[in-house]
Amino acid sequence: MNTLEKEVEVIEGDVLVSMTDVKGKITYVNDIFCQTAGYTREEILGKPHNIVRHPDMPKVIFKVLWDALLDGKSVSAFVKNKVNGGGFYWVRAFVAPVMVNGTMSHIISYRRRIEDSQKEVLSSLYGTLVDYERRHSVKESYQFFMDFLDERKLNYREFLNRISENKQVTNVDALNIDLTHAKVDHLILSINIQERVKRGEKNFEVTKPCCCKVGKWIESLSGTSMSHSREWRDFVSSHSVFHNSMQLYANGQTSILAQAKEDELKIYESLQKVIDITK
Ligand SMILES: Cc1cc2nc3c(=O)[nH]c(=O)nc-3n(C[C@H](O)[C@H](O)[C@H](O)COP(=O)(O)O)c2cc1C
Repeated sequence: MNTLEKEVEVIEGDVLVSMTDVKGKITYVNDIFCQTAGYTREEILGKPHNIVRHPDMPKVIFKVLWDALLDGKSVSAFVKNKVNGGGFYWVRAFVAPVMVNGTMSHIISYRRRIEDSQKEVLSSLYGTLVDYERRHSVKESYQFFMDFLDERKLNYREFLNRISENKQVTNVDALNIDLTHAKVDHLILSINIQERVKRGEKNFEVTKPCCCKVGKWIESLSGTSMSHSREWRDFVSSHSVFHNSMQLYANGQTSILAQAKEDELKIYESLQKVIDITK
């Protein structure tokens, strides 16, 4: 995500309208669409609608959109669009096929502004989806998104409704995170390891997930949609770094204990970031 990009605010009450042929080539746009997207009518007519596509948009959202349209159904989506010459704007788009004598003649869409709180939730979720799509096929991403909704017992329409109602949809798995619990758990583990080292024990294993509750918790959430977010991966990696430092200490390299303490603090910093994205 390019955080330096300028956001263009869509004004309350403004409706951005566009129409396409059945392939998604633009056949009509209203003035507000042109002004917001930064195109003259002449520049945009006849162009494919992906001319306004922003790279932060997950492919899977457009798959859901086109699947519905090709099935003759109307559909809605939260979309971040690109502004010609730089910048972006967020909207909720309503898109509907127009049927004439049972066949699709064209497709019409209108868009309205959305709230900042909704943009925040969507930026986090779309970021996770785009990240996932970098390493997976569209089919896999589609399954990933469907699993994400299933885990929350939502269908796509209910998902849209929740966002509209300003309800949280990202990372509900993470809601049972307890920062204090994680700290106490690692404190007990560290004391235990120090005692064992003092007793002269050497080379005992402290890196396996069974060593601590946080490790078990990480394992139990493996494969869930949250586990693919960048914040989660950073947290898991800082947790491993800490255990590796403790392992060196357990192996008899006593000087490493101070390093392990520093590494431990990094776990909580990154865990806090995971907690932040669940709000
Ligand atoms: C009527 C209509 C309106 C659309 N509006 C948008 C839009 O506002 N932004 C957008 O990125 N894609 C929009 N699309 C979807 C695009 O056709 C395209 O699927 C999407 O930009 C992804 O492009 P890509 O498949 O080339 O990556 C719209 C499609 C239709 C049929």
